[in-house]
Amino acid sequence: MDGRDLVRSVKMVGSVQGLRMVRAAWRRQRADARIPAPRGAERARVPGLLVSAEPGPGGGVVKFARSELLIRVSVGGAVFWSWDGAEPLPSYALPGAAPEPDPRAVLEPDKNGGWQVVSERLTVVVSRHGAVELRTPGGVVLRRELPPRWWEPVGGGAARWVQRSEVPADARFFGLGGRAGGPRLRGGTYRLWNTDPGGRFGPGDDPLYLTMPVQVVVSDAGTHLAFHDNTWAGRVTLREGEEGAGSGHDRPGTCEVRMEGGPLRCWVVAGTPARVLQGWTALSGAPALPPSWALGPQHARWGFGSEAEVRRIVAGYRERGLPLSVLHLDIDHFDAHRVFTVDRERFPDLPGLAKELREDGVRLVSIVDPAVKASAGNAVFDSGREVGDAGAFVRDPRGRPVLGEVWPGECVYPDFTDPLVREWWGALYEERLSQGFSGVWHDMNEPVAFSAFGDPSLPRSARHALEGRGGDHREAHNVYGLAMARAGYEGLLRLRPQERPFLFSRSGWAGMQRYGGTWSGDVATGWPGMRASLALVLGLGLCGVPYSGPDVGGFDGFPSPELYLRWFQLGAYLPLFRTHAAIDAGRREPWEFGPEVLAHARAALEERERLRPYFVTLAQLARLTGAPYVRPMWWGASADRALRECEDAFLLGDSLLVAPVMEHGADRRAVRLPRGRWYDTATGAAYEGPGQVLVDAPLSRIPVLARAGAVIPVRGGDGGLELEVWAPAAGRSGGGLVVRDAGDGWARAEVERYTSRVADGRVVVEREGEEGRVAYPVRVRGLPGQR
Ligand code: NOJ
Repeated sequence: MDGRDLVRSVKMVGSVQGLRMVRAAWRRQRADARIPAPRGAERARVPGLLVSAEPGPGGGVVKFARSELLIRVSVGGAVFWSWDGAEPLPSYALPGAAPEPDPRAVLEPDKNGGWQVVSERLTVVVSRHGAVELRTPGGVVLRRELPPRWWEPVGGGAARWVQRSEVPADARFFGLGGRAGGPRLRGGTYRLWNTDPGGRFGPGDDPLYLTMPVQVVVSDAGTHLAFHDNTWAGRVTLREGEEGAGSGHDRPGTCEVRMEGGPLRCWVVAGTPARVLQGWTALSGAPALPPSWALGPQHARWGFGSEAEVRRIVAGYRERGLPLSVLHLDIDHFDAHRVFTVDRERFPDLPGLAKELREDGVRLVSIVDPAVKASAGNAVFDSGREVGDAGAFVRDPRGRPVLGEVWPGECVYPDFTDPLVREWWGALYEERLSQGFSGVWHDMNEPVAFSAFGDPSLPRSARHALEGRGGDHREAHNVYGLAMARAGYEGLLRLRPQERPFLFSRSGWAGMQRYGGTWSGDVATGWPGMRASLALVLGLGLCGVPYSGPDVGGFDGFPSPELYLRWFQLGAYLPLFRTHAAIDAGRREPWEFGPEVLAHARAALEERERLRPYFVTLAQLARLTGAPYVRPMWWGASADRALRECEDAFLLGDSLLVAPVMEHGADRRAVRLPRGRWYDTATGAAYEGPGQVLVDAPLSRIPVLARAGAVIPVRGGDGGLELEVWAPAAGRSGGGLVVRDAGDGWARAEVERYTSRVADGRVVVEREGEEGRVAYPVRVRGLPGQR
């Protein structure tokens, strides 16, 4: 937080709180002074020379002079390796048991004096000095891990470590959670420490709310995902390689992971991008399936401060015939900003209002902040104190509750790493449900404690249960949001077992997709912020979190009508399509920017509604396969290097290519196409990829292209499902999947497979396994002479 931000946040929270923020910062700094200094007396260690090896399930243990390396290939192909005896469990990323070892993977000596494990997808080769190489079955090196180095405090305590690895010279890095500078992660250092950037962020801000040690590396040799399963604070330094660098030799790309403590263990999943995401979500959990209403248009504002205001907004949508699926209530509907309360003066009958809106097709979603106002008489605080032997709240090493300043004033923080606390917290959602809310929006869960300077979070010395193992905030910080999401999700599931919970959370970690999605947080209003917001969605999707989206229009300030509209048009193609803004920002309702913007925003809303069956299908497929709805352009074509560089367009599922306009004044734009024929869905014009084309992008729409042969489920004029089929190119075929909405419960969804081909100049669509019968109307597009 710089001086300007401090002034701004003091303005937002008031001067009394501003003073408390200064006090809090000093308090935290004093507390942290007790944490062993990372640069105190330390002993460095490297593995040393190879001594012996012992085969075991899926691989075995290779012993070195001063450490040992465990290698285990699992059924399904994921490779686990670790040093110093670290096992896959316990882990916050893995939902239950670790996958079974693959009995066919055997540790055997190699011809260089090292050892190797040959498996179906990867060969792991261990050198005599402890370098670990991952090779494709064809023998190409995907990744080389150099021997690690540890620094152990002489007096005992957590050892920090560093591990360098090399990747092919042509490799590109993605992931590491939500990174504003992505989606392609250029050379530089990325911190692993979930952080509220304070106020707003743009592409230069790092880290943000949701970091994770998950990197996706794409090169000609193949795609792989490496997950360093360690929740501690760390830094990842990336350097892209260079082909034909110095005297014609390739310089490999490098990645250096530095952690302040915790185990050195890593999972690697390799294959095509689709296989990688399937393998990763098989490991870290299938993404939660949002209820289908959460795939519709949503609107929020920090500042919908009364029942009358909520009615006015919803009426604004209705009077103009604009679709609206969800309205979010921010902290201003709470009583004095206290979580799980309602301001009864401004919202005298929230359940009544919720019921009325629901009858009108609008659901209410509630913000939920973790910090609990520390005052006797606050029911949540009082009940939290009764949890277990020591109460629910995070304590300092001397056993006193850790206090932090948040919206309601002085607060305590539930320790979500304690199963008892999760159970207590989850039960509190009954109050939200009884107020008529249909879902929850977790905020401020990095967790935030306002601070005049330094890290706006809890002291690193704060104690956490960590599932009974015990530890401090250095280890628990990054999983605080994840564990809160688990508490909320499991609580909602217990309370309404017949419904799929709807939850999205600002902070999180690897595996959070099991409980819900996320959103951009306070993205700065401006073209760079808009780009950052797309980078976040793409990067998070590659980390296994498919459901997310930005504050459309930007969180702060006043977007120009053009920026608002272009962002709106982008948002309409992202999983979470939600307008939102800060309390002191300009309006974000589509009618606030003049009649022209309203007309075009209406078209974007209507198109989103028309594509709802496609979004439902993509949500189901994300759950079944881990494939994100929003995919980078190189998905399915990772060997096309030009596509790896493309950051301003994306694939929506298999069938659509969306090319948002992210600069001022543009009315056409260049679009890089993957191989094959693509149709401009607005004009019907056909283009042949690979290559770059210039397409029209008038203010009324952004370019959306359909893949030739695609079969896309859409909502027809009568509201029923219809198949939109884009003519396959001559001699080619195509197809698509349809998963129908089976309500908001748990009914098993059926995946319908369709094929398309041209026969006698006609497009033929058939359903696989049903004697070809298609139960829906089919609308063919892209035929010559057709628009
Ligand atoms: C910070 C969140 O990121 C933002 O979306 C929200 O409006 C404010 N907190 C107030 O609750």
